[in-house]
Amino acid sequence: MNLETLEKNLPWLVVGIIIVISFGGLAEIVPLMAQPVTQEPVAGMKPLNALQLEGRDIYIREGCVGCHSQMVRPFRAETERYGHYSVAGESVWDHPFLWGSKRTGPDLARVGGRYSDAWHREHLRDPRSVVPESNMPGFPWLDENTYSDANTGDKMRALRAVGVPYTDADIDGAAAAVEGKTEMDAMVAYLQQLGTHLKARR
Ligand code: HEC
Repeated sequence: MNLETLEKNLPWLVVGIIIVISFGGLAEIVPLMAQPVTQEPVAGMKPLNALQLEGRDIYIREGCVGCHSQMVRPFRAETERYGHYSVAGESVWDHPFLWGSKRTGPDLARVGGRYSDAWHREHLRDPRSVVPESNMPGFPWLDENTYSDANTGDKMRALRAVGVPYTDADIDGAAAAVEGKTEMDAMVAYLQQLGTHLKARR
């Protein structure tokens, strides 16, 4: 086949284009998949405990990711406001990722430890009671729902199957660890650990 037939034959031209541009992907994307820096957790990181894991599920259920990113980009304006930029090793056990892309509210990747538990509870119940100009909705029902005989252990087992290093003891103790806690307790526990592994190292 000479070049002219390739140019005049659309299906073959499309195949040719795909082959050519996939070299860019091979050169840029494939090596990333094997590099330790994108595969290994940052030093000292532990998987979410039972209560934090339930909190993460509430975060997903309530759609917090629709207004909040969890990804500090490596720009000065961001690192001065939020702290150290996010690194891949902090997200290796996140299934699914909650990086988000919409920032109606601030980035939450490093919000852990920034406020007290009491502040978070008040803010989640009624945001305008602590931030008068806020347009975040309240989530007062988180106080009402309590965990009882929860399937947290099964969730951990599923995460272990995709590489999160939960131990048998973590899994066996999970339901007891959340028994009687509210969804608010779980949400606050999740928020308070966000981004703290790298923050401790700074
Ligand atoms: C409709 C958009 C929206 C949704 C949904 C939303 N938020 Fe917000 N959030 C905001 C805005 C705007 C602010 C900034 C004003 C304020 O502090 O209330 C904010 C602020 C925050 C802050 C304080 C961050 C800081 O650094 O000061 C936290 C923590 C937070 N939100 C958590 C959550 C959680 C958890 C959820 C889900 C249960 C959630 N938000 C859902 C819009 C939203």
